[in-house]
Amino acid sequence: MIPTKLYFGHAAEILGEVLPKGRVVVITDENLLRLYPELVRSYDHIIIGIGEEVKSLSTVARIYDELMAMGADRSTFLLGIGGGIVTDITGFVASTYMRGVAFGFVSTTLLGQVDASVGGKNGVNFDGYKNIVGTITQPQFVVSDVEMLRTLPERELRAGMAEVVKSAVVGDRELFDFLVRCDYSDICSSVESLRYIVSRAMEVKMAIVEEDERESGKRRLLNLGHTIGHAIEKCSSCLNHGEAVAVGMSLIARAACGLGVLKPSDAEVIDSLLLKLGFNLDTPVSMAEILVAVRGDKKRNEESINVVLPVAIGECEVRKMRFEEFEKLFV
Ligand code: GLY
Repeated sequence: MIPTKLYFGHAAEILGEVLPKGRVVVITDENLLRLYPELVRSYDHIIIGIGEEVKSLSTVARIYDELMAMGADRSTFLLGIGGGIVTDITGFVASTYMRGVAFGFVSTTLLGQVDASVGGKNGVNFDGYKNIVGTITQPQFVVSDVEMLRTLPERELRAGMAEVVKSAVVGDRELFDFLVRCDYSDICSSVESLRYIVSRAMEVKMAIVEEDERESGKRRLLNLGHTIGHAIEKCSSCLNHGEAVAVGMSLIARAACGLGVLKPSDAEVIDSLLLKLGFNLDTPVSMAEILVAVRGDKKRNEESINVVLPVAIGECEVRKMRFEEFEKLFV
């Protein structure tokens, strides 16, 4: 795969340097148009709505219609400006329109910068299942402008920190120690600190994706906390993705202690970091309900499950377990 180029700094300036000379069409949402009208209006643009419901094939079809009406061809470059929903849709449209056109992103949320914008998985929801239709195609570049995070609702910014902690536990002990040392409010008020955590978290993900783009092995490590996190999201609308992943990480770290692969002191330090960052680690529904949702995930077609277990801060392993074995970790 050709690795995605990562840029950190002022979006408009970086775009001036990295966009190809030909035609560029921006795909963005109503919020971003309101917040950054000049940036969006500098290009031909297509505006989509807000919220998970827009991540659908009907939105994709509407974008194809607009691209055709604009006369977009194979040389057109698609630029997604937004959070994970916009970048997922843009990547999917770009990978399929005219059998594939080049694309890049300006990622505007913390969750987007550290997770959704990198890795090449681009998809939409279908028949009630998240991201079940999609492609794996790498964007040419991702621009992360941490100044754009200032307009995020507080809860959304904090939720993104869960994926930063995940990256640290998966592969960056120094990043973890930095998060432990610093106050959340100090990190959020400093452009340098935000750039540091975003770039380190992105690098963890990029290094893994470069080795295993199609998730046949090592890339599964990036699912730390997500098996339980996704199940929580399915059972309860109280928590957003990052909040659910935080609970998932805490539970799986404790389970890893039970299996004897993680020191209890490491599980405690993960919990105390998540609590310090403001996450509530109580499950919003019973563990029994969560386990039913884990089993019921239709994307799985097997009796067993790949479980990501932390074995130290900055190191995780994937273990294939039968559902019964997995369930026993939580009794
Ligand atoms: N685009 C998100 C991922 O590939 O993981």
